[in-house]
Amino acid sequence: MNSFKVKSIIKRTFIVLSVAAVGIQFFHPAKNNDATIGANHISKMYTVPANVDVILQKACYDCHSNYTKYPWYNNIQPVNWWLNDHIVEAKDELNFSEFGTYKLLRQSKKLKKSAKEIEEGEMPLSSYTLIHRDAILTPEEKQAVIGWLNALSQEIYAKVTPAEIEEDRKRQEERKKQREQQGK
Ligand code: HEC
Repeated sequence: MNSFKVKSIIKRTFIVLSVAAVGIQFFHPAKNNDATIGANHISKMYTVPANVDVILQKACYDCHSNYTKYPWYNNIQPVNWWLNDHIVEAKDELNFSEFGTYKLLRQSKKLKKSAKEIEEGEMPLSSYTLIHRDAILTPEEKQAVIGWLNALSQEIYAKVTPAEIEEDRKRQEERKKQREQQGK
């Protein structure tokens, strides 16, 4: 191939990529921006002390609620897709805006898991705290939010009926069996 051809291929590739980079800017998934605090929001179901509420808002709600405070660079693709994927996945696991729709046992478990994730430094995600520096929790903030999460988890667990616990145990067993069968 002579150098003229190579140059022309590079040029054409560059043009195609540029057009694609501009093109994808027009494709945005729906925003996660429902700011209404409905009856199923955790803060409507249970008492969230003001200091804990501040922590949840700055460290969790951008991913685990129906309302995200988007950063300016969300307007640039593919950042927006990447953020959206995180939000969809996070809400699927735990959505504080829809907390009241969960069964009591699930509520209790999610709160306990939240405390554990914070304790182990898994949540908030490090890719998030990299930019949202104020979401890095101080030891005092961690203690406050973990204490509250565990206490509420226990309070809710006390209301779970034995039938629900039994049903959950069976479901877990069933899942374990399925996994074992798939593993074979
Ligand atoms: C940047 C987005 C983001 C932030 C901020 C964030 N999370 Fe998450 N969280 C996720 C994603 C994504 C998942 C699912 C994948 C995973 O487990 O890593 C998840 C999973 C979880 C789970 C696991 C649920 C389960 O049942 O397995 C818990 C609990 C949790 N997050 C709690 C929290 C709490 C509490 C905070 C605030 C202190 C928080 N997260 C902040 C994105 C986030």
